[in-house]
Amino acid sequence: MQTWLRRKSIDRVTDHEEGRQLKRTLSWPHLIALGIGAIVGTGIYTLIGVGANLAGPAVLLSFAVAGLVCACAALAYAEMATMMPAAGSAYTYSYIVLGESIAWIVGWSLILEYSLVVSAVAVGWSGSVVEFLAGIGVQIPAALAGGPHAGGIVNLPAVLIVFVVAGVLMVGTRESATLNAALVAVKIIALGVFVAIALPHFDAAKLDPFMPFGFVKSMGADGIERGVMAAAAIIFFAFYGFDAISTAAEETKNPERDLSIGIIGSMVGCTIIYMVVALTAVGALSYTLFAQSPAPLALIMRELGQGTAAGIVSGAAVVALPTVLLAFFYGQSRIFFVMSRDGLLPRGLSKVSPRTGTPIKTTLFTAVLVAALAGVARLDEIAALANAGTLAAFIAVSVCLLVLRKREPNRKRLFRTPLAWVVGPIAIFGCLYLFWSLPQRTQLWFLVWNGLGVIAYLAYGRRNSLLGRAQDA
Ligand code: ALA
Repeated sequence: MQTWLRRKSIDRVTDHEEGRQLKRTLSWPHLIALGIGAIVGTGIYTLIGVGANLAGPAVLLSFAVAGLVCACAALAYAEMATMMPAAGSAYTYSYIVLGESIAWIVGWSLILEYSLVVSAVAVGWSGSVVEFLAGIGVQIPAALAGGPHAGGIVNLPAVLIVFVVAGVLMVGTRESATLNAALVAVKIIALGVFVAIALPHFDAAKLDPFMPFGFVKSMGADGIERGVMAAAAIIFFAFYGFDAISTAAEETKNPERDLSIGIIGSMVGCTIIYMVVALTAVGALSYTLFAQSPAPLALIMRELGQGTAAGIVSGAAVVALPTVLLAFFYGQSRIFFVMSRDGLLPRGLSKVSPRTGTPIKTTLFTAVLVAALAGVARLDEIAALANAGTLAAFIAVSVCLLVLRKREPNRKRLFRTPLAWVVGPIAIFGCLYLFWSLPQRTQLWFLVWNGLGVIAYLAYGRRNSLLGRAQDA
């Protein structure tokens, strides 16, 4: 078979070599917590302001559009994850359904998604910490509080938090999932406090004019691309994370049941929470007052005269945002792990520690990479680029759903996406539209990254692919 068309067998997806298997320690409550832990983060706590800046009160529509597209993609993920319960998520499904070279591009895009989310959230977290510490009289020198773009040398808190999270993950997956569940509760309660206090201040007049910048992305006089869709393309960041659950498939005790409950449960839960928080925010304070803030929810609380609640909301962000880091870091190390196990990346990255059952080397490798990025990178640009990588993965999974339905209609499906021929195309075209709505510069960077990926594949992956060697033998 042509190299670029070679596919893994769907029947052998869970056969792995001795010493390169992950331990099964998770069940569905862990997965829902992992999902919500990954989803609720910088998106709702910070990017809601960026979204309002681009769309006005119609940021509510941006949330609805991004949520709808993600819900459709989540259904596709649930069907694929339960049919192919192996680590690797979109990369693995693409390897089995679409062939090695597409899988490589998807894996390469997932590296973009996971590493950039970790770096972006680490940078966002660092901002909250610096602010929080300043509030109690501890000043971090500017040179150590931001990268060169912000006039500093290195973003030290961002680098440190990456290594702390890596340390937690190296202790073992089960332990990290339990800690994650406790922190998830903290950030959900903080959002509850926000809604309970701000909702009584709701004033419909604040929603007028509702859509000041139109629906479709268009360039403003200030050189910024605005509109409901431009905001949706950024707000999309707030919704993903449920896909990180599918990277845990191999460590799930009962993947058939637990994966679909985990993916759909966390997605539906978060969409409801977001809609309520967003409606409360734009109804409580004119969006122009919080659109530029790095901590919009806390700012709204302060403007309403609720200093203590503002402290709770920003304190919860400091304590609980690391759950997003934990989930994406976990996903990233597993993507490297699987690509290495397949021979597409160096094999040394897929050795599992006999003591903890976790891939220690991969975790360290990931930590060094994302910490380096977090030390110097800019939040808004990396978040947009992370979105581009995620959109590519969502498109691939939705295409896999439809191709498998056609190619193997009678194969047993433990979870069947309802109305697959409606849901799949909505996910594919919705993601394409969101990609088109991203800033042009982001689209260009995405192409550059994948250009590098193609070179890496031709120079290393294609020649060292285990599947390729097996077929040549
Ligand atoms: N959905 C995650 C967040 O908003 C990436 O932080």
